[in-house]
Amino acid sequence: MIETRLTKMMGIKHPIVCGGMMRLAYPPLCAAISNAGGLGNLTSAMYDGKESLQAAIREVRELTDKPFIVNVTLLPSIALGPEQYMAFFDACAEERVPAMEIGGVPLDRFEGGKYFKKLKDAGVKLFHKVGSVKHGKHAEEAGYDGVIAAGVEEGGHPLNENVTTTVLTPRMAEELSIPVITAGGMVNGRSLAAALCLGAEGILMATRFINTHECRVHDKVREELIRRNENETVLYGNTIGLQGRALLNDSIRKVMEIESRGGGLDEILPLISGTYGDEIWQKGNMNIGLIPVGQSIGLIHDTVSCRELLDRIVREAEEVLSHNTGRFS
Ligand SMILES: Cc1cc2nc3c(=O)[nH]c(=O)nc-3n(C[C@H](O)[C@H](O)[C@H](O)COP(=O)(O)O)c2cc1C
Repeated sequence: MIETRLTKMMGIKHPIVCGGMMRLAYPPLCAAISNAGGLGNLTSAMYDGKESLQAAIREVRELTDKPFIVNVTLLPSIALGPEQYMAFFDACAEERVPAMEIGGVPLDRFEGGKYFKKLKDAGVKLFHKVGSVKHGKHAEEAGYDGVIAAGVEEGGHPLNENVTTTVLTPRMAEELSIPVITAGGMVNGRSLAAALCLGAEGILMATRFINTHECRVHDKVREELIRRNENETVLYGNTIGLQGRALLNDSIRKVMEIESRGGGLDEILPLISGTYGDEIWQKGNMNIGLIPVGQSIGLIHDTVSCRELLDRIVREAEEVLSHNTGRFS
């Protein structure tokens, strides 16, 4: 057992959280992670409004009686506007979800802070995913319950300040008094032990959860992630104002070529559009579209159940922390 301020705050067994995963973090995966002792994630952007998100939250609750976290990513989006975000926040407040992971714009700056207050009043624990100490300090001052310190290694949208996880976590820990959760490159027991040593109260992983039996993807996806290495992701999107990290494939190579000659969003969008989602995740075509994975793919060597994964991570971390590996005297 590794008990931290995070496990105590959320009433969970293991200090391991799943990050938002568009097209993957559905109720069955969310519940499997929570049932395994971590904090499963339900990602709101996959739903079209209040009722559908509420139905998904209720589905999670049918599958588990353990706490979970709902992701809302307040970033520029073609598919979602302020109305949907407001609907998501209303759903989470009404359902009194245990926790929320907010990405992008701080929730206290959205709609004059109305939803921040509404969610806090509903007893929802709020975590802001940030890539800089400045944003972490803002989160603490605004009254968030914790921050997720996301280093540049992460899949998704690492902040373009490009600070690594190994520096970001201790910097956050020395500047903030609210709990810090480390994200970006977290995969195994060594990751958890290292994060705790750097001052974190737990880890958040996303890419690693793709290679679990409960994540609904084609086997070819998992085989590809095992085959690929840490040097096979790229940062793209700086010329369009939103950096992302994705698996190196033909589409991303083309995006990088467009960016290097100053081509714009109109040219890039068709290559990274969300319409490729099913082709990638359900059919296993890894050579098209944007596949948001982290450098952590270099450390994914198998596919296991969520329970096996979480138990193994904690067991390995305990071994490392108690010098039981035989590497130290
Ligand atoms: C497939 C995939 C989809 C993601 N979608 C989202 C998302 O919708 N919202 C979000 O805030 N982060 C998203 N992320 C980022 C993760 O929540 C997390 O911050 C990051 O992946 C952690 O780094 P790791 O992949 O090395 O574990 C996504 C990551 C992956 C791998």
